[in-house]
Amino acid sequence: MMSRSEKVQHNAQLSSDMTIPQHIAIIMDGNGRWAEARHRPRLFGHKAGVDSVRDIVETAREIGVRYLTLYAFSTENWKRPDGEVSGLMSLLKTYLRAELNTMRTNNIRLQCLGQKKRLPADVGAILEQTIEETQNCTGMTLNLALSYGGRAELIRGIRELAKKCMNGEISPDEIDEQSLDDALYTAGQPDPDLLIRTGGECRLSNFLLWQASYAELYFTEVKWPDFRKKQLIEAIVHFNERQRRYGKTGAQLQVE
Ligand code: FPP
Repeated sequence: MMSRSEKVQHNAQLSSDMTIPQHIAIIMDGNGRWAEARHRPRLFGHKAGVDSVRDIVETAREIGVRYLTLYAFSTENWKRPDGEVSGLMSLLKTYLRAELNTMRTNNIRLQCLGQKKRLPADVGAILEQTIEETQNCTGMTLNLALSYGGRAELIRGIRELAKKCMNGEISPDEIDEQSLDDALYTAGQPDPDLLIRTGGECRLSNFLLWQASYAELYFTEVKWPDFRKKQLIEAIVHFNERQRRYGKTGAQLQVE
């Protein structure tokens, strides 16, 4: 007999009564191990990971996700060997160059979460161009987290608020959740409803620490290069099976 989760895996499909998460955030992990298992260099895994990025962006847009955030490069990833860092930067540049027209056609707005200034100049240039040329697209927002760290993002936001206090724009007592929200890279965007991590690890790794407060967490053993449309649908089906209570009891939610 199949377990409940096996049944989901075999039959996962969306139905009209399901909720599509408004914002999905993904930690794309496992490229290196995927490549190593095939006796290939790590960059081979990252290349295959780009195909998953394309597939997941297309699927998310198709099923009506409004915001998709992909953790493509963390502040900690700068510590990787030079060859891997430059390989990732080069993949990113190729991806952005190739996708600009598709993003425009599919009405996708690109945003970057992270330290854009730390990126190599050529990557920064195509990134800025894509952000600018897709700024009026309204179908879906694709956030690429690049040189991103959740703690660094919070410090940056807190500094911004501290400066406003120092120059008298606001008083410390006026600082609330909204003002910190507005000082983060994700200002104006809804928090993620569903946070997925591929590759088998069960941790947040400094990703969206503030924004993920109420996100449903979904961890899968599937490594990122194998995470495609089918696996995203499975994650959304699981999301629909969970009850989101925001601190209330199940009974309270039933009478709402
Ligand atoms: C984690 O796998 C993945 C990354 C550090 C990079 C993710 C990058 C891509 C999917 C490709 C480039 C992105 C875009 C948006 C074009 P890992 O290397 O840590 O895997 P491991 O845990 O198996 O070593």
